[in-house]
Amino acid sequence: MRDEPLVLGIETSCDETGVGIVRGHTLLADALASSVDQHARFGGVVPEVASRAHLEALVPTMQRALDEAGVTLADVDAIAVTSGPGLAGALLVGVAAAKGYALAAEKPIYGVNHLAAHVAVDTLEHGPLPEPAVAMLVSGGHSSLLLVDDLTAGVTPLGATIDDAAGEAFDKVARLLGLGFPGGPIIDRAAREGDPASIAFPRGLTAAKDLAAHRFDFSFSGLKTAVARWVESRERAGEPVPVADVSASFQEAVCDVLTAKAIDACRANGVGTLVIGGGVAANSRLRVLAEERAAKHGIAVRVPRPGLCTDNGAMVAALGSHLVRAGVAPSRLDLPADSAMSLTAVSVPG
Ligand code: KG4
Ligand code: ZN
Repeated sequence: MRDEPLVLGIETSCDETGVGIVRGHTLLADALASSVDQHARFGGVVPEVASRAHLEALVPTMQRALDEAGVTLADVDAIAVTSGPGLAGALLVGVAAAKGYALAAEKPIYGVNHLAAHVAVDTLEHGPLPEPAVAMLVSGGHSSLLLVDDLTAGVTPLGATIDDAAGEAFDKVARLLGLGFPGGPIIDRAAREGDPASIAFPRGLTAAKDLAAHRFDFSFSGLKTAVARWVESRERAGEPVPVADVSASFQEAVCDVLTAKAIDACRANGVGTLVIGGGVAANSRLRVLAEERAAKHGIAVRVPRPGLCTDNGAMVAALGSHLVRAGVAPSRLDLPADSAMSLTAVSVPG
């Protein structure tokens, strides 16, 4: 079981109910139920709505995952669940369910860190992660650069956003352009028809004076405000808003800063591998620009396919499998749902 453990992972930190099953590095099932449509009219995830949706979706999603993998709960070697960070009520649903299944089926349980799981999921597609590596996690809730020395032990934060997360910036800009929610995929599509050089939007925390204190940190709220001002001035002048050009120029500003800082983090730490995860890693321009810039410095870029970048159960199962294989002790059955779980903890100690 140590070499190829069969691990089931449960993810409920935000608006996706995910149950994934992996054997070793092999993905057997990745069942997902999303409440994203229920949040669309609010322009962002409503925690109480998300929690209720998890409650309704969990058992059927669990059943779908087991069917897809062709296994039963009795076959599973361990159950992993996102302990944090995330929405408290949403996390509670997954953690309570995982405890119930673990207790009923007498399985060890691993409470894991959602961000570390975003890093671990890449192993399902590209095999073991060379360490040390730099990970850039960009989603609706987080934007961080991490140094991954040993994924079983903990990761070292290098920098993070000081205001909005990258995905949040995509969502807010899409909202002010009247494009819908979630904004990332819509802006990504709209940008394909636009000119990324048509509007010079600001690149947060890249000026020499900011780099001294915030070399690996991000800021996207100034960019969001700049886009809002630009659109307002167009509207005031009675001119049409060129949605494709605004989308492309905004997207370029985000991707420019993200990739420049990620490559700088690799070089500063003598690291040859950059792994990108989180919902924004699905962005087509981010992928291209990261590859282009990394290649110039001999850095390999690993990005899982888009379906594995956004929240899912497979990522939790992948990290669980990694921990089991490394001989890490399971968590206690009273493990918490920890909305502010620290990045330095990859799993809840036993
Ligand atoms: O990781 P994720 O599914 O959930 C968490 O926030 O943890 O990420 C969702 C975020 C949303 O803000 C969404 O707009 C963004 O990822 N996103 C994208 C793309 N696809 C999803 N952002 C830019 N380009 C995309 N193609
Ligand atoms: Zn996430």
